[in-house]
Amino acid sequence: MMEVDFVRSRFIKHFDGKTGNVYASPGRINLIGEHTDYNGGFVFPGAVDKGVMAEMRINGTEDTVMAYAIDLKDRVDFKLSDPNGPRASWARYIYGIALEMRKLGVPVKGFNIAFAGDVPLGAGMSSSAAMESCFAFGLNDLFGDNKVSQWDMVLAGQATEHNYCGVNCGIMDQFASVFGKAGCLMRLDCRSREFQYFPFKPDGYRLVLLDSVVKHQLSGSPYNDRRMSCEKVVKCVQAKHPEAKFETLRDCTWEDLDEVKDEIGADDYRRAKFVLGEKDRVLAVCDALTEGDYEKVGELMYQTHEGLSKDYEVSCEELDFLNQIAKENGVTGSRIMGGGFGGCTINLVRNDLYRKFIEDAKKRFNEKYGHEPKVYDVVIGDGSRKIC
Ligand code: GLA
Repeated sequence: MMEVDFVRSRFIKHFDGKTGNVYASPGRINLIGEHTDYNGGFVFPGAVDKGVMAEMRINGTEDTVMAYAIDLKDRVDFKLSDPNGPRASWARYIYGIALEMRKLGVPVKGFNIAFAGDVPLGAGMSSSAAMESCFAFGLNDLFGDNKVSQWDMVLAGQATEHNYCGVNCGIMDQFASVFGKAGCLMRLDCRSREFQYFPFKPDGYRLVLLDSVVKHQLSGSPYNDRRMSCEKVVKCVQAKHPEAKFETLRDCTWEDLDEVKDEIGADDYRRAKFVLGEKDRVLAVCDALTEGDYEKVGELMYQTHEGLSKDYEVSCEELDFLNQIAKENGVTGSRIMGGGFGGCTINLVRNDLYRKFIEDAKKRFNEKYGHEPKVYDVVIGDGSRKIC
């Protein structure tokens, strides 16, 4: 995590010399359960020790926000009453979350904000959710007496993506960023929103991310198409059973899916098939973790990769190559992490194989694509918080 002084010195310099309050929120990893959140299924994320830090202060104006993105060296001022909001994509997260927090009854007025992040952009580690939950947490504290619940902040972050950023995401990323706890993964049922913390200390293994550095961007991407495919299948199943209620693929069985197979087209069928399988895999991973069977966890991770690549079609050549290298190095589990279309693989690797695997991945990836993948050792950290 970044240093407070780094953010504070920029806040002082770019505004009126005064200090404000500092807040931080993390990015996330996800052990398993991909593209299941918006299908009412299970996910298994954890917050990381990297994220976004923001200093914020009420500026006394009715609705002028003065915002500085430290990493981009970009300053944007805008009014919350402007119906279009700012154009800079980073500033839209601030504008969006402020309006969503107002909808929750927080009387947000003008404020100054400077923020920085160390969660890599476009790596599928949810830098955007880290921003949303950090800003939501700050606004709740500054203007709202901390009355908005953690879950409402999660939903405000998701609504910001939907309403101002063009991504029809689920709730996994914002959930992990708000509720994260050091040393623990969390199993969330996205339909009931019940969750449990799972202490994660795999004896003899570690988690490492390999970032393909292929830019992952979800807005305007096939991400929304995938979601639409799933919703189409649910509608079709519902039409066959008007007496029952099918809200998401979570409510559909393998038999329901097979019944509509000929009506929904091959692509939608394969996508729904992946989602049903992934729903079961998350539960199987929980059982395996409880038994300390990491080899089983890894096997399920490889199955997820296969499904994301062949059936859900959210992989790319570089990620498949990283997965292949993992397999050839005897890595226990490896798969695409997050939305896909670039970004990272997450790898569960035995300590004794770690060094050789990383060296081999760097060398072979470099030979093929002209640059090395970036390597991030996973440290499971805390969720949104006030620093000072
Ligand atoms: C992105 C979205 C999440 C989730 C994942 C895929 O990270 O923001 O809601 O759908 O993709 O599991």
